[in-house]
Amino acid sequence: MKAFVYRGVNLKALEDRPKPEIQAPGDAIVKILKTTICGTDLHILKGDVATCAPGRILGHEGVGIVDAVGAGVTAFKVGDHVLVSCISSCGKCEYCRRSMYSHCTTGGWILGNEIDGTQAEYVRTPHADTSLYPIPPDADEEALVMLSDILPTGFECGVLNGKISPGSTVAIVGSGPIGLAALLTAQFYSPAEIIAIDVDDNRLGLAREFGATQAINSSDGKAVDAVKTMTEGRGVDTAIEAVGIPATFELCEKIIAPGGTLANIGVHGKKVDLHLEWLWSQNIAITTRLVDTVSTPMLMKTVQSKKLDPTRLITHHFTLAKILDAYDTFARAAETKALKVIIEVA
Ligand SMILES: NC(=O)c1ccc[n+]([C@@H]2O[C@H](COP(=O)([O-])OP(=O)(O)OC[C@H]3O[C@@H](n4cnc5c(N)ncnc54)[C@H](O)[C@@H]3O)[C@@H](O)[C@H]2O)c1
Ligand SMILES: [Zn+2]
Ligand SMILES: [Zn+2]
Repeated sequence: MKAFVYRGVNLKALEDRPKPEIQAPGDAIVKILKTTICGTDLHILKGDVATCAPGRILGHEGVGIVDAVGAGVTAFKVGDHVLVSCISSCGKCEYCRRSMYSHCTTGGWILGNEIDGTQAEYVRTPHADTSLYPIPPDADEEALVMLSDILPTGFECGVLNGKISPGSTVAIVGSGPIGLAALLTAQFYSPAEIIAIDVDDNRLGLAREFGATQAINSSDGKAVDAVKTMTEGRGVDTAIEAVGIPATFELCEKIIAPGGTLANIGVHGKKVDLHLEWLWSQNIAITTRLVDTVSTPMLMKTVQSKKLDPTRLITHHFTLAKILDAYDTFARAAETKALKVIIEVA
């Protein structure tokens, strides 16, 4: 089969690989129909993800058809259409029993990281019963690709952890796919104001289209003043960090109102200062989270009922044969205006 392989820092290739086989009774083999590229895949290619070794097939998102199941799989059969979650969960370990699938002792984020992933014609998915999700027959499968990772991430790490409530004020720092996923799902809770902050005017324009009530380009260094002006000097009840660099986390620390919540989503590679000299008296909470994908079934219902339209995040389409072009387009998002690129596999 054809597969996209991480070959070492800044090295990548579309290669012929053997079709994966069942290795454990809980495994399924899924024939991939559509997959996509995540910002995290770009981090892997830069060598930022130590757990992902050269030779790994990348990808942790996608939809497909069950091609084979292990003897222990009872929830799925050959031919079923499934959504592959970016998080594999056994459903039985201490963390899974606490709905913290991201920390499953035999799963978590392993696909396209510690084991071969979805940017290929077939993928082996461990713990299939509890890591695949059935796709309703009339569903838009392309839309559901956005439910493997980015929508649960924006919703769980940003919206739920950020305790967004009706009438509250929210700032989302970063209008990439994750920040926009948080923006779309924040609206389930009817906040009064959602302020989008980014340095890219195209993305800020999209944020406005997606429901942001205000947009701030922070490249002039005056975003804190702008947020304070918009909020009568108070700051925001929820500040969502969806970039993953010190400057944006510190911005969130400066715009959080007394009693507010700073919900971090970004993956941070560098240390960030925690300014307790400002924050100790502010009654705030800071949360961090690796996406658990516990909200996937709920999000699937909101897509089916048309309360949520994830297709708005899809900007480009490529075939698997052109996946190197897809990576190039995705990596140059500021020029290409790419958000999520769909890779058509079959
Ligand atoms: N916690 C989790 O489980 C989880 C899961 C998936 C992704 N992530 C992380 O979420 C973050 C966002 O992911 P993404 O795919 O949307 O990334 P992205 O790179 O596509 O988007 C980041 C956005 O931040 C903007 N930006 C860059 N520097 C900025 C600055 N100084 N001020 C304001 N905006 C700035 C960029 O213009 C871009 O629009 C990444 O760090 C990613 O690794 C976390
Ligand atoms: Zn991802
Ligand atoms: Zn587990």
